[in-house]
Amino acid sequence: MFELEFPGRDELERRHFLKVMGGASSLGMASILFGPDLMKRVEAATEKTAGLDPKDVAQNEAFWREIQQAFTVSRGLINLNNGAVGSSPEVVTESMIRYLWQQEDAPPFQRRILGARMETVRNALAQLFGADPEEIAIMRNTTEAMQTVLLGLDFKPGDEVLTTGHDYFSLVGALDRREARDDIVVKKIEVPVPPKSMDELVAAFERGITDHTRLILVSHPVNFTGQFFPVKRICDLAHRRGIEVAVDGAHSFAHLDFKHQDLDCDYYATSLHKWLFAPKGTGMLYVRRDKINKVWPLLYASNRMDNNIRKFESIGTRAYGPFLGIGEAVAFHNGIGPKRKEERLRYLKHYWADRLGALPKITFYSSLDSEMGCAIATVGIGGVNARALGTYLWDKHQILTSAVTRMGINGLRITPSLYTTLEELDVFCDIMEHIAKNGLPSS
Ligand SMILES: Cc1ncc(COP(=O)(O)O)c(C=O)c1O
Repeated sequence: MFELEFPGRDELERRHFLKVMGGASSLGMASILFGPDLMKRVEAATEKTAGLDPKDVAQNEAFWREIQQAFTVSRGLINLNNGAVGSSPEVVTESMIRYLWQQEDAPPFQRRILGARMETVRNALAQLFGADPEEIAIMRNTTEAMQTVLLGLDFKPGDEVLTTGHDYFSLVGALDRREARDDIVVKKIEVPVPPKSMDELVAAFERGITDHTRLILVSHPVNFTGQFFPVKRICDLAHRRGIEVAVDGAHSFAHLDFKHQDLDCDYYATSLHKWLFAPKGTGMLYVRRDKINKVWPLLYASNRMDNNIRKFESIGTRAYGPFLGIGEAVAFHNGIGPKRKEERLRYLKHYWADRLGALPKITFYSSLDSEMGCAIATVGIGGVNARALGTYLWDKHQILTSAVTRMGINGLRITPSLYTTLEELDVFCDIMEHIAKNGLPSS
């Protein structure tokens, strides 16, 4: 599922980082990004970590301290709900503001000038995903990108779409509406929480497939537990039977280090404002080249565009700032190095989860196996209502989490990000430990 590290890649990432930072310097952006002194410290940090295994770099606090400084988050609260929407580094926010100002300068011309730069962003996304730019549409989020596919494919009455009870509510909801409108059948398979192995998940899909199955909708990681699904194996299974696979990658793009070939799906949708840290309201849709023609766009596009991926972007006048800011987000991501970022996020998860896991009364609804998850895990305390716990953490300690009380889960989804410090995780763990021993204080 994951791309293997190859010798020299770390060095390439390091050089790329220095190039990105050097490019920022020459554009006068270094001070926006880090300030000149900090810039030198970051360069020194990347020099020192060159050639090291990403798993080792994941534990190198000196390196990550420099990266943390690239974000503008306030430390008066501890945000452990980065799974919802990610905070952007300053370089991304600043670029978006620059583009917004630029658009104000003779706005009618900017459609041509800034619009042309969307192609540069498309190329950058295509390279990161390992796809042809002609298969990449720049969208506003996963909701829009995935519903384009779910509502845009032709189905006959009786055709089946197979998904799980763990897939995102608005996407399963869109399928439910098609069931009502077009007489298709939407089958939702049960998934264990957490599963013991990936084999269990493949077997659940295999059991759900019938002669009428036309499409599978599967989350790459699931929203409320962070559970990975073995997408490549599900695609292989489906393709052998002529079934297409649409992957909800809201949580996987720029979180895990992978390329399209590691999934081999037909459709893939993601929100770039989650793990790529791109401006809010940005997403991406991948459609396999030979399938573009058969997916109807949600909004009107001329029939001359039938085979053109840009037909999915025909939303009329738009603000270019957020979309062009994706370019800076990709550069920042590549500069750190996708594998280093993945391993740091996994390390942060283990930092708090391993400590809490040693306590009595703690229940994990996410597997802590590396193959099964990365940054996200959902944890509960026996006898403590998760919603009350989440409210207490926020009201009394300014710690932001996401309560999950569905599918038999009574837990908090905990999602640190790259800017999260170990000290912040210690504060969270101290409080959770106290509650696990003494219960939730009455207000
Ligand atoms: C698995 C999954 N799919 C889809 C979405 C929808 O994302 P967006 O609101 O960015 O469209 C989310 C949002 O959290 C999600 O977690």
